[in-house]
This record gives sequence, C-alpha cells and structure tokens, in this order.
Amino acid sequence: MKWIDSHAHLDDRAFEADRATVIARCSEAEMGVLAIGSSLRSSREAVRLASRYRNIWATVGIHPHHAKFVDEAALIELKELAQDDLVVGIGEIGLDYYRDLSPRDRQRSALRQQLNLAIELNLPVCLHNRESTDDLLAILKETGKRHCGVVHSFLGDGTLADEFLDMGFHLGIGGPLTFPGNEVLRVAVKRTPLDRILLETDCPYLTPVPYRGRRNEPVYVKYVAEEIAKLKGLALQDVAKQTTKNAIRLFGLSD
Ligand code: NI
Repeated sequence: MKWIDSHAHLDDRAFEADRATVIARCSEAEMGVLAIGSSLRSSREAVRLASRYRNIWATVGIHPHHAKFVDEAALIELKELAQDDLVVGIGEIGLDYYRDLSPRDRQRSALRQQLNLAIELNLPVCLHNRESTDDLLAILKETGKRHCGVVHSFLGDGTLADEFLDMGFHLGIGGPLTFPGNEVLRVAVKRTPLDRILLETDCPYLTPVPYRGRRNEPVYVKYVAEEIAKLKGLALQDVAKQTTKNAIRLFGLSD
C-alpha cells in the first residue's frame, strides 16, 4: 500500500452509480481506504464493503447527527459489529454544535458510551468536532483513561493541534487544507510532526482544490498530500509513505 485514505464515506448515496469503479481506482493507485460508519446502517455497509474488497477496512459508529437514535439496542449491535476482524476503529463519533441535528445532551451521552466501547474493545476512535471543542476536550479528559485515535478533519489552529497531540491523538487532514481561506490550518499543519498526521478525504464531501465543488473520492487524497509536502518542504512520496505508516500503526492494518 502506498496511500491510505483514513476517512471515506463509501456507503454514501453519491457513490451509488459507480462505487465499484471508484474502489477500482483506489486499487490501481495502491490505496487502502477506511470506510467510516456514521449510523448503524452505514456501519453495516462499511463492514460489508471491507469484507468484499481487500484494500478496505471499516470503522463502526454513530455520528453526532444521529445521536438521538443511540439506545441500548443500538449499542449492542454496534458492539457486535465492532468485533468483526475487519473493523479497525470506532467512529465517526463526536459532537456537532454547528448543525445540532441531535439534542446536545444526547450527543454527549452517545459520545461517552461509544468512547467506553472503544476502550472496552481496545480500538482507536475517529472523532468529529464542529463548534464543540470545549465539551469534546472535557469529555475526553473526564474518565482519566487514555483514548487513542484521530481527530478527523482537523480545522483548528496550532494551539488546539498541540492540545490533541499532547493527549496522544493524530490529526486527520483533508481537502480544507487546500482551500485559500485556511491559512491558520496550514500554519498548524506545517508545525505538526508528520508522524502524527493521517491523510483523509471525508469523501464525498470536502473535495480538495483543484476539484473543489465536485464529488470527492479517495484518490483525491493526493492533492492533500501535495499541499502537506509543499508546506513541509518534503517530497510527495515521503508524505505518502509516512502517513501510510501512521495509519497502519494506529489502526493495526495488515497489508
Ligand atoms: Ni466524515
């Protein structure tokens, strides 16, 4: 494997017509992909894709948008799914106070329950955070347990980057790094050690320049890597190599 897209919503409707072709392009590029669950349905689908394709692994979890559907039965099914050998993490979980599609108290309890599941099963987490940093940090710190995983689509400044890095997290960096308005993020990424960065697309969303505005897909992760290489004065292949190594190590992937 030369590349890993650590965050792809391959189950998304946007891939309905040509999912197999999109995945074939990943294989051609020697790219591994983490298919990310965001609901029970999409978690089941991520596991199904992982069982079908050699270069795909799955994470299972319930996104904060769907937190109001997290109940005991959902947690039982999630735990069952998470024990599949092809499941390498719990996510996407977290908080989203920007869209507030689930009540905030339900978001917080769903996050706590899924963080506990990750600890119980010894799996890394994939965190979503939008305008909810204070509560997210407080919840991560409250158990005193050490979580591991990735802050997906990190968009903060250097101070926040340091805070997550000090807690042991990796930063998931995607298309927004290539957007003209994101100078603060570029400064933060420039000073983040490369061995703590994961490449991601969050496809079909957050398409990097030069395809911004169109549907995103895993192979476009190269444009993110190009931007990181430019910022750090490195060769593109060194960025690919190290970030692939990081994802293999964090999620325990076997090639
Ligand atoms: Ni996502």
